[in-house]
Amino acid sequence: GFAFVSLTAVVAAAEKKLTVGFAQTGAESAWRTANTNSMKTEADKRGINLKFADGQGQLENQIRAVRSFVTQRVDVIVIAPIKTTGWDNVLREAKRAKIPVVIMDRQIETTDETLFHCFVGSNFYEEGQMAVEWLAKNRDERTKIVELQGTPGSAAANDRRKAFADGLAKHSDLKIIDSQSGDFSRAKGKEVMEAFLKKHGKAIEIVYAHNDDMALGAIQAIEEAGLKPGKDIIIVSVDAIKEAVQAVADGKISVTVECNPLFGPKIYDTIDKILKGEKVERVSYNKDELFDSTNAAARVSTREY
Ligand code: AHR
Repeated sequence: GFAFVSLTAVVAAAEKKLTVGFAQTGAESAWRTANTNSMKTEADKRGINLKFADGQGQLENQIRAVRSFVTQRVDVIVIAPIKTTGWDNVLREAKRAKIPVVIMDRQIETTDETLFHCFVGSNFYEEGQMAVEWLAKNRDERTKIVELQGTPGSAAANDRRKAFADGLAKHSDLKIIDSQSGDFSRAKGKEVMEAFLKKHGKAIEIVYAHNDDMALGAIQAIEEAGLKPGKDIIIVSVDAIKEAVQAVADGKISVTVECNPLFGPKIYDTIDKILKGEKVERVSYNKDELFDSTNAAARVSTREY
């Protein structure tokens, strides 16, 4: 009868809905929160059924989540990998189940390039280059740097570190006097900066933070030590979250290189193409810019994250 037909139609419509499994790193930073929101809001807009797994900063959690997406036979798997390595086995399982995998935000190292379909995210090496080139031009006489690294083993930390070191090699007076991980978090950034200040005192002239949350944590530590961030110490950072661009306008952060997290729409466009059998770029980078005293005040109100 009628009721039976309409129920079947409802079930069929529900079955047609695209299901995407998304293994997120965690919620370590403001950048990450904005990225998660972009993925969720855009899924809602498009009527996509998004299965969201928060890895809470642990690679094992993420791998377990991906394995469960395979078991659930989702249509596509999206991974923002906490670390670059450790993915081969679970990606092989996804491949065997014929589920396409999109790696996003952070790249991975694998022995078999057929284990994922494509990558979408920022070019972290270029971000590190922009940071070091800005510093080389704007450092006045200052030379001694402390580095706040991101999560050990993450592409974001690896590439931002490497690019910066490569850039420093061209300026032999500039030196990293200490370097430690603050895990991309504000609390740990502050903690590590406090330790650096205790150990090196006024010798510290420049801070290079791999993200804004750590830079903002470092600023607190610097102020609590009675120094003026942005004046006594140059602060170079990455992400360009609104709060950091405001800190640039206020003169507390010297420069922040953008890393745009709002690429949910681009991810789902890519997924559409994959499912239609269309060709997509193997590696697609987002466009990032830079904020310093020349443009921060004018641009801060337009920042969306
Ligand atoms: O992978 C991107 C990095 O991860 C962002 O720069 C940082 O804020 C985030 O936690």
